Amino acid sequence: MIISGKAAVAGVMGWPVSHSKSPRLHGFWLDHYGIDGTYIPMAVTPDEFETAVRGMKALGMKGCNVTVPHKENALRLADVATERAKKIGAANTLIVQDDGSILADNTDGYGFYENLIQGAPGWDATKGAAVVLGAGGAARAVIVALIEAGVPEIRLINRTSARADNLASELDGNITVVDWASRELALAECNLLCNTTTLGMTGQALLEIDIFDLPKTALVNDIVYAPLVTNLLDKAMAHGCETVDGIGMLLHQARPGFKAWFGKDPEVSDDLRDYVLADG
Ligand code: ATR
Repeated sequence: MIISGKAAVAGVMGWPVSHSKSPRLHGFWLDHYGIDGTYIPMAVTPDEFETAVRGMKALGMKGCNVTVPHKENALRLADVATERAKKIGAANTLIVQDDGSILADNTDGYGFYENLIQGAPGWDATKGAAVVLGAGGAARAVIVALIEAGVPEIRLINRTSARADNLASELDGNITVVDWASRELALAECNLLCNTTTLGMTGQALLEIDIFDLPKTALVNDIVYAPLVTNLLDKAMAHGCETVDGIGMLLHQARPGFKAWFGKDPEVSDDLRDYVLADG
């Protein structure tokens, strides 16, 4: 794609950043919509992150995505932040506003929920409890989004229960912490099972969970997308549950940033999914 001297410039800051799928994802949309813009990977060390963030205004950039290990710092350094970024305690999207100030947003929870409703349009978040496995940064974004969507009860389960206790005490909502050893008991009568741990990811151990007690009406989602069909999703399909895979969370979380920087709310299409997944 050839750009002009007026091109809008955005990108992703991470350390490392070479694994990021975001340049490919935003590049697809820029090309698809014929937008005069570019989205570049920026390998920024933690020591230089603040200088890099401040430099965006100086460079006339529209903003950037932020990935590991900069997400908490991004929120701290921004001039203003959205409510959801404050609740999650981290930012993944920075927007240089017209007056030069930097707005921090966190679109991970948004991307998570948009993926669920695109993948399972008939599913109703308000119909019952959600079981969330994991208590890291991803779990925090997922829980904030589920509470916002009206889920009446969250059953939070993590190998290290102290981490789950901390997370539950920091978030407003009906959150019950269940021991990792009792995870199967927590599945009874739930409406959603979501894995936010790294278990099941290529190169990691499998997620061991017996889903015999999981209602067949429950939706099952894994935020792991490599492999696309994790052992949890495979088991859930065999059990008769509807499933939504994790790649859509990555695709949908990118939409608000793209809209702010390039002026278009982009579509998450099958072509986009295939293109991003073809990246190995
Ligand atoms: P992220 O920010 O992406 O959520 P994280 O903070 O590293 O990543 O969290 C990883 C999650 O996977 C945690 O909930 C972790 O459990 P612990 O808090 O007990 O570490 C979970 N996890 C990773 N490996 C695990 C394993 N072998 N068994 C159970 N849970 C595991």
